[in-house]
Amino acid sequence: MTIRPLHLAVLGATGAVGRALVQALEESDLPVASLALLASEHSAGAELDFRDDVLRAAAVGPGAFAGKDLAFFAAGAATSRAHLEAARAAGCAVVDLTPAFRGDAEVPLVLPPLNADALAGFARRGVVAVPGPASAQLALALAPLHRAAGVERASSVVLEAVSGAGQKGVSELEAELRAMLSFQEPPPPTALPHRAAFNVVPQVGPFGDDGASEEERAVAADVRRLLGSSLRVGVTAVRVPVFYGHVQLVSVKLRRALGAAAARELFRQAPGVKLVDAPQEGVYPMPMLAVNDDAVLVGRVRDDPTQEHGLDLVLCGDNLRQGGASTAIELAKLLAEKHLKLG
Ligand SMILES: NC(=O)c1ccc[n+]([C@@H]2O[C@H](COP(=O)([O-])OP(=O)(O)OC[C@H]3O[C@@H](n4cnc5c(N)ncnc54)[C@H](OP(=O)(O)O)[C@@H]3O)[C@@H](O)[C@H]2O)c1
Repeated sequence: MTIRPLHLAVLGATGAVGRALVQALEESDLPVASLALLASEHSAGAELDFRDDVLRAAAVGPGAFAGKDLAFFAAGAATSRAHLEAARAAGCAVVDLTPAFRGDAEVPLVLPPLNADALAGFARRGVVAVPGPASAQLALALAPLHRAAGVERASSVVLEAVSGAGQKGVSELEAELRAMLSFQEPPPPTALPHRAAFNVVPQVGPFGDDGASEEERAVAADVRRLLGSSLRVGVTAVRVPVFYGHVQLVSVKLRRALGAAAARELFRQAPGVKLVDAPQEGVYPMPMLAVNDDAVLVGRVRDDPTQEHGLDLVLCGDNLRQGGASTAIELAKLLAEKHLKLG
């Protein structure tokens, strides 16, 4: 279907996800008539390349969404909540990449290969929520197993790259590595709770009274929302000293027998999934293979000898693309084709 070129805005354009969005828009076939880069006062004037132009970020303010068909919100949950009504009043559709609306029953949480139909609920609030990267990657990998043999329980250890904490997480690890490799004292951490360099930190986000972190609760809730509330999902989120690409070590208990060979066959066919599984040859999912790929890589698929109908697997995805920029652009395309009244 042909859609007319869109007037777009990226709120949070100078951040890790915002920059990935601008790059992914440049690579995508979504027709762009204009692109406004919005951020806070702090980075107003920052320049980003887009196609043959150099675009300047502006501070978001009144009127920022006038004349826009669609805005990507990637400036944190509070900023999304603060600007949704302004966008709506201006007739600008919103694809929200933050956690602001993921648990809101009035807002569809959509991962295109799994539940694009849920976009029908977009009109209610004028916004669609993009699942976070760890949720998107886990849901995409569990979906074919769930359809074939019913997932009873899944538990995942998510090894999260520092870019998951934004541009500041990236700068922090870089500064620590530079200092420590020069035998100097690293700067004290500010974006992350502890030094990331040469460390592994079992905390992503604040902890609740139940001992689970915000990220752990959010991933479990999003996967259940995407795949069905009968699923039991346990998550342990850990920050590792990698710049880009989340890895997940997943244990699955199925309701019916399937086996590793049949599971591999399902992954080979599944949309949004790439089977990368030749361990004898050193081929398995890793951030160095996943970065800049829009698929979630799945490998190390094997039967779990400790439980009936159990499988173990390893996933890896680019956290700025899968459950990030690429997913958001796919949603924008679907919205433009079917749900927006483009005059
Ligand atoms: N990082 C990931 O892997 C990932 C993946 C998917 C979704 N997300 C979600 O995407 C959102 C952004 O994450 P990020 O990693 O890109 O963070 P980030 O690197 O810290 O970037 C934040 C962006 O938001 C802007 N911003 C902050 N406060 C603002 C305000 N009050 N008004 C206008 N703009 C404001 C910042 O602009 P200034 O430069 O002016 O401060 C910057 O452009 C978060 O909600 C996150 O949960 C992150």
